[in-house]
Amino acid sequence: MTEDRDLFDIIQREEERQNTTLQLIASENFTSRAVMAATGSVLTNKYSEGYPGKRYYGGNRIIDEVEDLARRRACDLFGAEHANVQPHSGANANLAAYLAVLEPGDTVLGMRLDQGGHLTHGSPVNVSGRLYHFVSYGVTESDERLDLEQLAALAEEHRPKLIVAGATAYSRIIDPAPIRRIADEVGALFLFDAAHVAGLIAGGVHPNPVGVADIVTFTTHKTLRGPRGGAILCTPDLAPAIDKAVFPGLQGGPLEHVIAAKAVAFREAAQPEFHDYAAQIIRNAQALAAALSGEGFRVVSGGTDNHLMLVDLRPFAAELTGKVAQEALDGAGITLNKNQIPGDPRSPFVTSGLRIGTPAVTTAGMGEAEMGEIARLIARVLGHPGDAGESAAVRDEVAVLCSKFTPYPS
Ligand SMILES: Cc1ncc(COP(=O)(O)O)c(C=O)c1O
Repeated sequence: MTEDRDLFDIIQREEERQNTTLQLIASENFTSRAVMAATGSVLTNKYSEGYPGKRYYGGNRIIDEVEDLARRRACDLFGAEHANVQPHSGANANLAAYLAVLEPGDTVLGMRLDQGGHLTHGSPVNVSGRLYHFVSYGVTESDERLDLEQLAALAEEHRPKLIVAGATAYSRIIDPAPIRRIADEVGALFLFDAAHVAGLIAGGVHPNPVGVADIVTFTTHKTLRGPRGGAILCTPDLAPAIDKAVFPGLQGGPLEHVIAAKAVAFREAAQPEFHDYAAQIIRNAQALAAALSGEGFRVVSGGTDNHLMLVDLRPFAAELTGKVAQEALDGAGITLNKNQIPGDPRSPFVTSGLRIGTPAVTTAGMGEAEMGEIARLIARVLGHPGDAGESAAVRDEVAVLCSKFTPYPS
Protein backbone atom coordinates (compact mmCIF):
# COMPACT_ATOMS: atom_id res chain seq x y z
CA MET A 1 0.00 0.00 0.00
CA THR A 2 2.64 2.50 1.05
CA GLU A 3 4.52 1.81 -2.19
CA ASP A 4 1.94 3.88 -4.09
CA ARG A 5 3.21 7.18 -2.75
CA ASP A 6 1.63 9.12 -5.61
CA LEU A 7 -1.85 8.22 -4.53
CA PHE A 8 -1.45 7.90 -0.78
CA ASP A 9 0.24 11.28 -0.55
CA ILE A 10 -2.88 12.75 -2.17
CA ILE A 11 -5.12 10.97 0.35
CA GLN A 12 -2.90 12.24 3.15
CA ARG A 13 -3.34 15.81 1.88
CA GLU A 14 -7.12 15.36 1.75
CA GLU A 15 -7.10 14.11 5.34
CA GLU A 16 -5.14 17.21 6.30
CA ARG A 17 -7.65 19.42 4.45
CA GLN A 18 -10.52 17.80 6.34
CA ASN A 19 -8.66 18.19 9.65
CA THR A 20 -7.65 21.81 9.21
CA THR A 21 -10.54 23.54 7.39
CA LEU A 22 -14.24 23.95 8.17
CA GLN A 23 -16.59 21.47 6.50
CA LEU A 24 -20.03 23.10 6.23
CA ILE A 25 -21.44 21.22 3.25
CA ALA A 26 -24.85 20.06 4.49
CA SER A 27 -24.59 16.62 2.86
CA GLU A 28 -21.17 15.74 4.26
CA ASN A 29 -19.97 14.24 7.52
CA PHE A 30 -16.99 12.49 9.12
CA THR A 31 -17.48 8.73 9.43
CA SER A 32 -16.03 6.72 12.26
CA ARG A 33 -12.81 4.72 11.94
CA ALA A 34 -14.96 1.56 12.20
CA VAL A 35 -16.99 2.61 9.16
CA MET A 36 -13.78 3.25 7.24
CA ALA A 37 -12.27 -0.06 8.38
CA ALA A 38 -15.28 -1.98 7.05
CA THR A 39 -15.16 -0.02 3.78
CA GLY A 40 -11.49 -0.89 3.39
CA SER A 41 -11.93 -4.59 4.24
CA VAL A 42 -11.54 -7.84 2.23
CA LEU A 43 -15.29 -7.76 1.58
CA THR A 44 -14.42 -5.62 -1.44
CA ASN A 45 -13.11 -8.79 -3.11
CA LYS A 46 -16.38 -10.70 -3.28
CA TYR A 47 -18.97 -10.88 -6.03
CA SER A 48 -22.42 -11.46 -4.59
CA GLU A 49 -25.05 -10.66 -7.21
CA GLY A 50 -28.48 -11.50 -5.78
CA TYR A 51 -29.61 -11.46 -2.17
CA PRO A 52 -28.80 -13.49 0.97
CA GLY A 53 -29.66 -17.14 0.30
CA LYS A 54 -30.15 -16.44 -3.44
CA ARG A 55 -26.77 -15.58 -4.94
CA TYR A 56 -25.52 -16.22 -8.45
CA TYR A 57 -21.97 -17.13 -7.35
CA GLY A 58 -20.62 -19.46 -4.69
CA GLY A 59 -18.71 -18.52 -1.57
CA ASN A 60 -21.30 -16.13 -0.19
CA ARG A 61 -22.12 -17.79 3.12
CA ILE A 62 -20.26 -15.14 5.13
CA ILE A 63 -21.28 -12.29 2.84
CA ASP A 64 -24.91 -13.30 3.46
CA GLU A 65 -24.33 -12.76 7.18
CA VAL A 66 -23.02 -9.26 6.47
CA GLU A 67 -25.98 -8.25 4.34
CA ASP A 68 -28.51 -9.86 6.67
CA LEU A 69 -27.02 -7.98 9.61
CA ALA A 70 -27.16 -4.69 7.69
CA ARG A 71 -30.78 -5.28 6.63
CA ARG A 72 -31.83 -6.24 10.15
CA ARG A 73 -30.12 -3.23 11.69
CA ALA A 74 -31.68 -0.88 9.13
CA CYS A 75 -35.15 -2.26 9.90
CA ASP A 76 -34.58 -2.00 13.66
CA LEU A 77 -33.21 1.53 13.45
CA PHE A 78 -36.14 2.94 11.49
CA GLY A 79 -38.89 0.50 12.51
CA ALA A 80 -39.24 -0.81 8.96
CA GLU A 81 -40.45 -4.17 7.79
CA HIS A 82 -38.17 -4.50 4.77
CA ALA A 83 -34.80 -2.99 3.89
CA ASN A 84 -32.74 -3.13 0.72
CA VAL A 85 -29.21 -2.00 1.54
CA GLN A 86 -27.68 -2.51 -1.89
CA PRO A 87 -28.23 0.86 -3.65
CA HIS A 88 -24.82 2.33 -4.42
CA SER A 89 -26.11 5.86 -3.79
CA GLY A 90 -29.17 7.94 -3.01
CA ALA A 91 -29.75 8.54 -6.72
CA ASN A 92 -29.77 4.79 -7.34
CA ALA A 93 -32.15 4.23 -4.44
CA ASN A 94 -34.61 6.70 -5.95
CA LEU A 95 -34.29 5.29 -9.45
CA ALA A 96 -34.81 1.75 -8.17
CA ALA A 97 -37.93 2.88 -6.32
CA TYR A 98 -39.29 4.50 -9.50
CA LEU A 99 -38.45 1.38 -11.52
CA ALA A 100 -40.33 -0.71 -8.95
CA VAL A 101 -43.61 1.19 -9.00
CA LEU A 102 -43.76 3.29 -12.20
CA GLU A 103 -43.97 2.78 -15.94
CA PRO A 104 -42.27 5.25 -18.29
CA GLY A 105 -44.55 8.24 -18.83
CA ASP A 106 -46.31 7.93 -15.47
CA THR A 107 -47.08 11.15 -13.64
CA VAL A 108 -45.19 11.91 -10.41
CA LEU A 109 -45.21 14.93 -8.07
CA GLY A 110 -41.86 16.10 -6.75
CA MET A 111 -40.31 19.21 -5.23
CA ARG A 112 -38.82 21.70 -7.68
CA LEU A 113 -35.05 21.69 -7.86
CA ASP A 114 -34.81 25.49 -7.47
CA GLN A 115 -37.04 25.33 -4.38
CA GLY A 116 -35.11 22.61 -2.58
CA GLY A 117 -35.79 19.35 -4.44
CA HIS A 118 -33.17 16.93 -5.78
CA LEU A 119 -32.13 16.22 -9.38
CA THR A 120 -33.69 12.76 -9.08
CA HIS A 121 -37.07 14.35 -8.30
CA GLY A 122 -37.74 14.99 -11.96
CA SER A 123 -35.11 17.40 -13.23
CA PRO A 124 -35.13 17.40 -17.04
CA VAL A 125 -31.36 16.73 -17.06
CA ASN A 126 -31.82 13.63 -14.90
CA VAL A 127 -33.12 10.25 -16.07
CA SER A 128 -36.06 10.70 -13.66
CA GLY A 129 -37.27 13.71 -15.63
CA ARG A 130 -36.65 12.01 -18.96
CA LEU A 131 -38.48 8.77 -18.16
CA TYR A 132 -41.38 10.02 -16.08
CA HIS A 133 -43.77 12.94 -16.25
CA PHE A 134 -42.84 14.94 -13.16
CA VAL A 135 -45.00 17.84 -12.02
CA SER A 136 -43.32 20.10 -9.47
CA TYR A 137 -44.52 21.70 -6.27
CA GLY A 138 -42.57 24.22 -4.24
CA VAL A 139 -42.59 26.54 -1.26
CA THR A 140 -44.91 29.46 -0.57
CA GLU A 141 -43.75 32.94 -1.45
CA SER A 142 -44.92 34.30 1.89
CA ASP A 143 -43.09 32.06 4.37
CA GLU A 144 -40.87 29.95 2.10
CA ARG A 145 -42.23 26.72 3.58
CA LEU A 146 -43.52 23.66 1.77
CA ASP A 147 -46.74 24.67 0.00
CA LEU A 148 -49.11 21.87 0.99
CA GLU A 149 -52.10 23.61 -0.58
CA GLN A 150 -50.30 23.71 -3.93
CA LEU A 151 -49.26 20.08 -3.50
CA ALA A 152 -52.87 19.06 -2.84
CA ALA A 153 -54.17 21.08 -5.79
CA LEU A 154 -51.57 19.62 -8.17
CA ALA A 155 -52.34 16.12 -6.92
CA GLU A 156 -56.04 16.69 -7.54
CA GLU A 157 -55.37 18.08 -11.02
CA HIS A 158 -52.76 15.57 -12.23
CA ARG A 159 -53.75 12.40 -10.31
CA PRO A 160 -50.11 11.22 -10.00
CA LYS A 161 -49.19 7.60 -9.51
CA LEU A 162 -46.53 8.64 -6.99
CA ILE A 163 -45.85 11.61 -4.74
CA VAL A 164 -42.21 12.19 -3.83
CA ALA A 165 -41.41 14.23 -0.72
CA GLY A 166 -38.02 15.13 0.67
CA ALA A 167 -35.45 17.74 -0.25
CA THR A 168 -31.84 18.60 -0.65
CA ALA A 169 -31.98 22.27 0.30
CA TYR A 170 -34.89 22.88 2.66
CA SER A 171 -34.43 23.88 6.28
CA ARG A 172 -37.79 22.94 7.77
CA ILE A 173 -39.30 19.71 9.06
CA ILE A 174 -41.21 17.83 6.37
CA ASP A 175 -44.12 16.21 8.15
CA PRO A 176 -45.08 13.07 6.22
CA ALA A 177 -48.62 12.87 7.68
CA PRO A 178 -50.40 15.55 5.56
CA ILE A 179 -48.64 14.30 2.42
CA ARG A 180 -49.91 10.79 3.15
CA ARG A 181 -53.43 12.19 3.36
CA ILE A 182 -53.05 13.94 0.01
CA ALA A 183 -51.65 10.75 -1.56
CA ASP A 184 -54.60 8.75 -0.21
CA GLU A 185 -57.11 11.26 -1.53
CA VAL A 186 -55.85 10.78 -5.09
CA GLY A 187 -54.85 7.12 -4.82
CA ALA A 188 -51.11 7.81 -5.20
CA LEU A 189 -48.20 5.94 -3.70
CA PHE A 190 -45.98 7.99 -1.39
CA LEU A 191 -42.17 7.98 -1.45
CA PHE A 192 -40.28 9.92 1.21
CA ASP A 193 -36.70 10.68 0.22
CA ALA A 194 -34.93 10.97 3.57
CA ALA A 195 -31.45 11.30 2.06
CA HIS A 196 -30.63 14.40 4.08
CA VAL A 197 -32.53 13.78 7.28
CA ALA A 198 -31.97 10.03 7.83
CA GLY A 199 -29.63 10.73 10.75
CA LEU A 200 -32.10 13.16 12.31
CA ILE A 201 -34.84 10.53 12.00
CA ALA A 202 -32.59 7.85 13.51
CA GLY A 203 -31.75 10.27 16.32
CA GLY A 204 -35.43 10.90 17.00
CA VAL A 205 -35.38 14.62 16.19
CA HIS A 206 -37.31 14.52 12.89
CA PRO A 207 -40.65 12.75 12.27
CA ASN A 208 -40.13 9.21 10.99
CA PRO A 209 -41.77 8.62 7.59
CA VAL A 210 -41.54 4.84 7.99
CA GLY A 211 -45.05 3.49 8.51
CA VAL A 212 -46.48 6.62 6.86
CA ALA A 213 -44.89 6.55 3.40
CA ASP A 214 -44.98 3.42 1.25
CA ILE A 215 -41.29 3.72 0.39
CA VAL A 216 -38.51 5.56 2.20
CA THR A 217 -35.19 6.05 0.44
CA PHE A 218 -32.13 7.51 2.10
CA THR A 219 -28.39 8.01 1.87
CA THR A 220 -26.09 6.64 4.53
CA HIS A 221 -23.35 9.28 4.30
CA LYS A 222 -25.06 12.54 5.25
CA THR A 223 -26.55 13.12 8.71
CA LEU A 224 -26.49 9.34 9.27
CA ARG A 225 -22.66 9.51 9.25
CA GLY A 226 -22.04 6.20 7.49
CA PRO A 227 -20.27 5.21 4.27
CA ARG A 228 -21.21 6.74 0.91
CA GLY A 229 -24.31 4.82 -0.22
CA GLY A 230 -28.07 4.46 -0.32
CA ALA A 231 -30.83 2.23 1.04
CA ILE A 232 -34.56 1.65 0.63
CA LEU A 233 -37.16 0.80 3.27
CA CYS A 234 -40.62 -0.34 2.25
CA THR A 235 -43.76 -2.19 3.18
CA PRO A 236 -43.70 -6.00 2.75
CA ASP A 237 -46.06 -5.91 -0.26
CA LEU A 238 -43.60 -3.73 -2.18
CA ALA A 239 -40.48 -5.65 -1.11
CA PRO A 240 -40.32 -8.08 -4.07
CA ALA A 241 -40.68 -5.25 -6.61
CA ILE A 242 -38.09 -3.07 -4.83
CA ASP A 243 -35.57 -5.90 -4.57
CA LYS A 244 -36.06 -6.83 -8.22
CA ALA A 245 -35.66 -3.21 -9.28
CA VAL A 246 -32.34 -2.79 -7.42
CA PHE A 247 -30.99 -6.09 -8.78
CA PRO A 248 -31.20 -7.13 -11.57
CA GLY A 249 -33.15 -4.03 -12.62
CA LEU A 250 -30.59 -1.30 -12.01
CA GLN A 251 -27.35 -2.52 -10.49
CA GLY A 252 -24.90 -5.41 -10.80
CA GLY A 253 -22.90 -6.82 -7.91
CA PRO A 254 -23.51 -5.15 -4.55
CA LEU A 255 -20.66 -3.38 -2.72
CA GLU A 256 -20.58 -5.70 0.30
CA HIS A 257 -17.71 -3.79 1.93
CA VAL A 258 -19.91 -0.69 1.86
CA ILE A 259 -22.92 -2.71 3.04
CA ALA A 260 -20.80 -3.86 6.00
CA ALA A 261 -19.94 -0.23 6.72
CA LYS A 262 -23.66 0.64 6.51
CA ALA A 263 -24.26 -2.04 9.17
CA VAL A 264 -21.63 -0.35 11.37
CA ALA A 265 -23.30 3.03 10.89
CA PHE A 266 -26.80 1.66 11.65
CA ARG A 267 -25.46 0.26 14.93
CA GLU A 268 -23.76 3.55 15.80
CA ALA A 269 -26.94 5.47 15.04
CA ALA A 270 -28.91 3.20 17.39
CA GLN A 271 -26.81 4.22 20.41
CA PRO A 272 -28.26 6.77 22.87
CA GLU A 273 -25.34 9.16 22.12
CA PHE A 274 -26.57 9.45 18.55
CA HIS A 275 -29.74 11.13 19.79
CA ASP A 276 -27.57 13.72 21.55
CA TYR A 277 -25.55 14.15 18.36
CA ALA A 278 -28.65 14.66 16.22
CA ALA A 279 -30.10 17.17 18.68
CA GLN A 280 -26.80 19.06 18.77
CA ILE A 281 -26.70 19.25 14.94
CA ILE A 282 -30.00 21.15 15.10
CA ARG A 283 -28.98 23.38 18.01
CA ASN A 284 -25.82 24.26 16.11
CA ALA A 285 -27.75 24.98 12.90
CA GLN A 286 -30.12 27.27 14.83
CA ALA A 287 -27.22 29.05 16.53
CA LEU A 288 -25.43 29.53 13.21
CA ALA A 289 -28.60 30.79 11.50
CA ALA A 290 -29.19 33.31 14.30
CA ALA A 291 -25.58 34.49 14.24
CA LEU A 292 -25.61 34.89 10.45
CA SER A 293 -28.83 36.92 10.70
CA GLY A 294 -27.04 39.10 13.24
CA GLU A 295 -24.27 39.66 10.66
CA GLY A 296 -26.80 41.00 8.14
CA PHE A 297 -27.59 37.91 6.06
CA ARG A 298 -31.16 36.73 5.46
CA VAL A 299 -31.86 33.13 6.38
CA VAL A 300 -34.50 31.68 4.05
CA SER A 301 -37.81 31.00 5.87
CA GLY A 302 -36.42 32.84 8.87
CA GLY A 303 -34.45 29.95 10.33
CA THR A 304 -34.06 26.21 10.48
CA ASP A 305 -35.40 23.16 12.28
CA ASN A 306 -32.95 20.71 10.79
CA HIS A 307 -29.27 20.43 9.96
CA LEU A 308 -29.04 23.11 7.28
CA MET A 309 -29.94 26.62 6.29
CA LEU A 310 -30.17 28.58 3.07
CA VAL A 311 -28.63 32.01 3.24
CA ASP A 312 -29.74 34.86 0.99
CA LEU A 313 -26.62 36.97 0.40
CA ARG A 314 -28.36 40.00 -1.10
CA PRO A 315 -29.24 41.88 2.09
CA PHE A 316 -25.56 41.57 3.13
CA ALA A 317 -24.19 42.72 -0.27
CA ALA A 318 -26.56 43.20 -3.21
CA GLU A 319 -24.00 42.29 -5.88
CA LEU A 320 -22.47 39.32 -4.05
CA THR A 321 -23.29 36.00 -5.76
CA GLY A 322 -23.20 32.51 -4.31
CA LYS A 323 -20.46 31.62 -6.78
CA VAL A 324 -18.15 34.42 -5.65
CA ALA A 325 -18.97 33.78 -1.99
CA GLN A 326 -18.24 30.04 -2.26
CA GLU A 327 -14.88 30.71 -3.90
CA ALA A 328 -13.90 33.43 -1.43
CA LEU A 329 -14.80 31.22 1.55
CA ASP A 330 -12.99 28.24 0.04
CA GLY A 331 -9.86 30.37 -0.12
CA ALA A 332 -10.25 31.10 3.58
CA GLY A 333 -10.67 27.43 4.57
CA ILE A 334 -14.46 27.50 4.88
CA THR A 335 -16.07 24.86 2.65
CA LEU A 336 -19.73 25.17 1.69
CA ASN A 337 -21.76 25.40 -1.50
CA LYS A 338 -23.57 28.02 -3.49
CA ASN A 339 -27.29 27.34 -3.78
CA GLN A 340 -30.30 28.92 -5.39
CA ILE A 341 -32.80 30.39 -3.00
CA PRO A 342 -36.55 30.22 -3.70
CA GLY A 343 -37.37 32.55 -6.60
CA ASP A 344 -33.68 33.17 -7.28
CA PRO A 345 -33.22 35.49 -10.28
CA ARG A 346 -29.69 34.11 -10.80
CA SER A 347 -28.84 30.80 -12.50
CA PRO A 348 -27.89 27.63 -10.56
CA PHE A 349 -24.26 28.24 -11.57
CA VAL A 350 -24.23 31.73 -10.08
CA THR A 351 -27.01 31.88 -7.44
CA SER A 352 -27.88 34.42 -4.77
CA GLY A 353 -27.46 32.02 -1.89
CA LEU A 354 -25.40 29.59 0.10
CA ARG A 355 -26.37 26.29 1.68
CA ILE A 356 -24.72 25.71 5.03
CA GLY A 357 -24.94 22.58 7.18
CA THR A 358 -23.75 21.56 10.63
CA PRO A 359 -23.51 17.71 10.61
CA ALA A 360 -19.72 17.56 10.11
CA VAL A 361 -18.69 20.35 12.49
CA THR A 362 -21.00 18.79 15.11
CA THR A 363 -19.30 15.42 14.66
CA ALA A 364 -16.00 17.24 15.16
CA GLY A 365 -17.33 18.35 18.56
CA MET A 366 -18.20 21.99 17.94
CA GLY A 367 -21.10 23.62 19.79
CA GLU A 368 -23.11 26.83 19.73
CA ALA A 369 -20.16 29.03 20.79
CA GLU A 370 -18.16 27.91 17.75
CA MET A 371 -21.16 28.61 15.50
CA GLY A 372 -21.03 32.27 16.52
CA GLU A 373 -17.34 32.34 15.65
CA ILE A 374 -17.97 30.68 12.28
CA ALA A 375 -20.65 33.28 11.43
CA ARG A 376 -18.20 36.09 12.22
CA LEU A 377 -15.50 34.50 10.06
CA ILE A 378 -17.95 34.06 7.15
CA ALA A 379 -19.01 37.71 7.41
CA ARG A 380 -15.38 38.87 7.53
CA VAL A 381 -14.51 37.03 4.32
CA LEU A 382 -17.66 38.09 2.50
CA GLY A 383 -17.21 41.70 3.60
CA HIS A 384 -14.00 41.72 1.47
CA PRO A 385 -14.34 38.84 -1.00
CA GLY A 386 -11.29 39.73 -3.13
CA ASP A 387 -8.96 40.65 -0.29
CA ALA A 388 -6.07 38.13 -0.14
CA GLY A 389 -4.77 39.47 3.17
CA GLU A 390 -8.15 39.11 4.90
CA SER A 391 -8.59 35.64 3.40
CA ALA A 392 -5.19 34.51 4.72
CA ALA A 393 -5.92 35.98 8.16
CA VAL A 394 -9.27 34.16 8.36
CA ARG A 395 -7.65 30.97 7.10
CA ASP A 396 -5.21 31.14 10.03
CA GLU A 397 -8.09 31.63 12.47
CA VAL A 398 -9.97 28.73 10.90
CA ALA A 399 -6.89 26.53 11.35
CA VAL A 400 -6.65 27.49 15.03
CA LEU A 401 -10.35 26.73 15.54
CA CYS A 402 -10.13 23.40 13.71
CA SER A 403 -7.02 22.36 15.67
CA LYS A 404 -9.29 22.11 18.73
CA PHE A 405 -11.83 19.94 16.87
CA THR A 406 -9.82 17.57 14.68
CA PRO A 407 -12.02 14.81 13.24
CA TYR A 408 -9.12 12.46 12.49
CA PRO A 409 -6.28 13.11 14.95
CA SER A 410 -3.19 11.19 13.88
C1 LIG B 1 -32.83 14.50 -1.36
C2 LIG B 1 -31.72 13.75 -2.00
N1 LIG B 1 -31.99 12.61 -2.67
C3 LIG B 1 -31.03 11.91 -3.28
C4 LIG B 1 -29.72 12.33 -3.26
C5 LIG B 1 -28.70 11.56 -4.03
O1 LIG B 1 -27.74 10.96 -3.26
P1 LIG B 1 -26.35 10.50 -3.92
O2 LIG B 1 -25.52 11.70 -4.10
O3 LIG B 1 -25.81 9.50 -2.93
O4 LIG B 1 -26.70 9.84 -5.22
C6 LIG B 1 -29.38 13.49 -2.58
C7 LIG B 1 -27.99 13.95 -2.55
O5 LIG B 1 -27.64 15.03 -2.21
C8 LIG B 1 -30.41 14.23 -1.94
O6 LIG B 1 -30.15 15.38 -1.32
